[in-house]
Amino acid sequence: MNNSDSKINFSTALSENKVLEFKDVWKIYQMGDEKINALAGVNLSIKKGSFISIMGPSGSGKSTLLHVAGILDMPTKGTFLMKGKNTSTLSGREQARFRRKEIGFVFQRFNLFPQLSALENVLLPMIEPDPEKAKGYLDKMGLTGKYAKLPSQLSGGEQQRVSIARALVNNPSLILADEPTGELDSKNAEIIMGILKELNDKEGVTIIIVTHNPLAAEFTDKIIEMRDGNIL
Ligand SMILES: Nc1ncnc2c1ncn2[C@@H]1O[C@H](COP(=O)(O)OP(=O)(O)OP(=O)(O)O)[C@@H](O)[C@H]1O
Ligand SMILES: [Mg+2]
Repeated sequence: MNNSDSKINFSTALSENKVLEFKDVWKIYQMGDEKINALAGVNLSIKKGSFISIMGPSGSGKSTLLHVAGILDMPTKGTFLMKGKNTSTLSGREQARFRRKEIGFVFQRFNLFPQLSALENVLLPMIEPDPEKAKGYLDKMGLTGKYAKLPSQLSGGEQQRVSIARALVNNPSLILADEPTGELDSKNAEIIMGILKELNDKEGVTIIIVTHNPLAAEFTDKIIEMRDGNIL
């Protein structure tokens, strides 16, 4: 069943239900004389508990959209709302709070600290560092016994599972993943997508992934296609 079908649809709950809202969002880069519309008037609402993939050709604005969604970047024009709050009007402190408490990021190249162990990488972003809890997340990712390994001593799939554990430590309501399976073979890609699907199904975490891989997109409930900075 499509996940969104089962969501509450009463009009009173509707605005609360929209965790992310893009309203005519533009991201314009000025490169010398040239203007690049990385986002060109995006309108998009994402409901709590959605599992969405964003697909589209290179340069179509997928990562830019994800960066705005993660409050890593601000729109040049238009409004982006997270849980009803216009992120452009938040103070730096409030933005950082959102990023730390609400959002977990997963990157294509894992972005682990090479000199830190798996456990230390997971402990690092914890608001209240708790080794037992951190180990619990690694266990959940099937990494029991790998706590002390450095990223270089782990496979790509294992490194990505460490980075998912790291993304989960502060119980985010939203996971944003930019090509989380881009560096992985199909078996490991399936494992990672299975983990994300379970987080969405069982814990209701809202998840948006950018992917070039149709097999990864199949795990999600909805595919959004981008072209030239907008949604098709
Ligand atoms: N910091 C920047 N400065 C200038 N132009 C940028 C910047 N970041 C992105 N762009 C441009 O904005 C457009 C959208 O880039 P974006 O990274 O969002 O694409 P993408 O869909 O993620 O592509 P890919 O599939 O290759 O990752 C591209 O034309 C890109 O060159
Ligand atoms: Mg990209």
